[in-house]
Amino acid sequence: MTESVARRPEIAQCGAIALGTPKLETSLTFFRDTLGMEEVERVGDTVYLRGYQEMKHHSLVLFASETPIVDSYSFRVKRPEDVELFYNELLAQEVEVVELPAGQQAGRGTAIRFVVPHAGHSFELYYDIDAPQAPEEISSKLLSNSSRRRGLGVRRIDHYNIQTAPDNVGKAEGWLREALGFKRREYVYVPENDFLIASWTSVTSQVHDLAIAMSLTNQNAQLHHVAFNLENHSDLIVAADTLRDHDVHFHCGPGKHGIGQAMYLYLEEPGSGHRIELYSGNYHIFDPDWNALGWTPTNPDGMTWFGQELDVSQDGSMSSSTDSVSSLTPLIGQPQPVGQA
Ligand SMILES: [Fe+2]
Repeated sequence: MTESVARRPEIAQCGAIALGTPKLETSLTFFRDTLGMEEVERVGDTVYLRGYQEMKHHSLVLFASETPIVDSYSFRVKRPEDVELFYNELLAQEVEVVELPAGQQAGRGTAIRFVVPHAGHSFELYYDIDAPQAPEEISSKLLSNSSRRRGLGVRRIDHYNIQTAPDNVGKAEGWLREALGFKRREYVYVPENDFLIASWTSVTSQVHDLAIAMSLTNQNAQLHHVAFNLENHSDLIVAADTLRDHDVHFHCGPGKHGIGQAMYLYLEEPGSGHRIELYSGNYHIFDPDWNALGWTPTNPDGMTWFGQELDVSQDGSMSSSTDSVSSLTPLIGQPQPVGQA
């Protein structure tokens, strides 16, 4: 055997999305009471929630804001030292990065924050995070549940789908693969000039933990949607049936994507207008030399295998009203010092 090679830092999984909402109580009621997430902690006008199979402190942060906004997309890294290793790698690339002190998001240890080159989204990376016990009244006998299943049964965050300007998709996706280690799993491209339209990437066995696609309104730093996972397809149908009685506006679905082979329901979160996806299914990839699967825009099976057609020509009107910021300054928690992680 040859001598060991220096290991690069790695991302383990999606952490949490921090969503600003003009109607905090409406948003909280939707995620907690309708979808069944646990309200783990509230600090002022910021609320931390998790799904019933998430042991860590939170996967969703809701905070009061004048406009619907995304403060950050966070990821947990594989090892404690990876936070500092990523910090050093970003500095070496001359990507501006700041340290966020422990507790900037409740329950979370030291994190770093930077803006994704070519895309403009604010990403945060961390390792340490609390794993609190749920209150006795919602605890589960199942050791693999952090709380008993409630509401429509959101068990965990699933993935982020972000948008950037068309000319930036290829560059941003390339950076995400090179710098952060995301693997391209499936993609849509124009074969004539190899122009990348959208890419589904992951660090886990899922087809995507992070998708990036072009904004037809030519904007960087856009959230297309954040997805939360349900156990199975019938749960998704029950969710659709139930949410109609709650007057929740559907953007698309229920249906099934060809890409990823999961069922989807895109809806408008009632308090903020952020687009949320309820998501179930998805094949898994265990092959270490998986060849990314390329789709062309002329093949409709990729976006819609069955169900209501996802009309990509209407993508602009389907975009979230999110006015994402490209910022190193978090909108929640404590102001952060600039310094070494
Ligand atoms: Fe999605």
